Amino acid sequence: MDIKNVGIVGAGQMGNGIAHVFALAGYDVTINDISQDALDRGLKTIRKNMERQVSREKISAADRDAALARISTTLSLEELGSSDLIVESASERETIKSAIFEDLQPHLKAETILTSNTSSISITRLASRTDRPERFMGLHFMNPAPVMPLVELIRGIATDDATYQTMLKVVENLGKTAASAEDFPAFIVNRILLPMINEAVYTLYEGVGNVRSIDTAMKLGAGHPMGPLELADFIGLDTCLAIMNVLHDGLADTKYRPCPLLTKYVEAGWLGRKAGRGFYDYR
Ligand code: CAA
Repeated sequence: MDIKNVGIVGAGQMGNGIAHVFALAGYDVTINDISQDALDRGLKTIRKNMERQVSREKISAADRDAALARISTTLSLEELGSSDLIVESASERETIKSAIFEDLQPHLKAETILTSNTSSISITRLASRTDRPERFMGLHFMNPAPVMPLVELIRGIATDDATYQTMLKVVENLGKTAASAEDFPAFIVNRILLPMINEAVYTLYEGVGNVRSIDTAMKLGAGHPMGPLELADFIGLDTCLAIMNVLHDGLADTKYRPCPLLTKYVEAGWLGRKAGRGFYDYR
């Protein structure tokens, strides 16, 4: 299937980055969110990030203008009706994601492919609640989407081969590299990355190191671009906790037990960069 129009649900951290990537690759993009404020903030971030790419000579000013002209926004899911592809990028809560697909379905063409940018929720289960489980996939971008070259492609148990092949081609057109994962809790990247971050929080909790020494150790000692606690703040501590809970519940193994300190920070509303406070203070 030829994909031209892409509907993106959610203008947040991931949604606006994904819209940025699709628009630069020449796709017509419509972003939906539940408030005008969220849409305005998403567009502002896209402009700022494209500006950064222009100033670093990654793209030209003409590329930026053409990409921005391909992006429109809407508060109504109905206006995503002409999309060939939907990328759901709402909050990492299963009930919210399922409700979005349910509300979207009556407006969509029969052939429209549905994807979710979920970082950990079962694709098979999300797909089973839609009218087209064979045309449903996980399309998992990494943060920041305009920079990170990987997209995980996750097939649900019912995903057909035509859908998978179409999405492989889309990822290639975006200039990204696909890694295919089977549908098990947290797929590949987060199955490996989040236990490492959780272990870093335990390392802090048990007093083995402080925030700076833990991050410095992993940056300079293991060559990571960001330390694990800085990365946790960047991802969002609520998202980190949600993924650990998916691993813990889905694999029923105590080795995935979320660190109590991570839970406490989330309960305090110290969710990382987006909240102004996490393991670091951004205020
Ligand atoms: N949009 C566009 N460009 C951006 C950007 C954005 N949001 N953020 C950074 N950049 C660009 C910069 O312009 C810069 O470009 P040049 O190389 O052309 O100069 C480049 O990215 C590097 O940025 P900076 O120089 O500002 O800063 P940096 O060198 O510290 O890199 C980083 C920033 C790319 C985020 C780097 O720190 C990094 O790779 N961190 C690790 C990120 C990571 O692990 N992401 C995965 C998280 S896990 C995930 O996403 C899965 C999940 O489901 C939770």
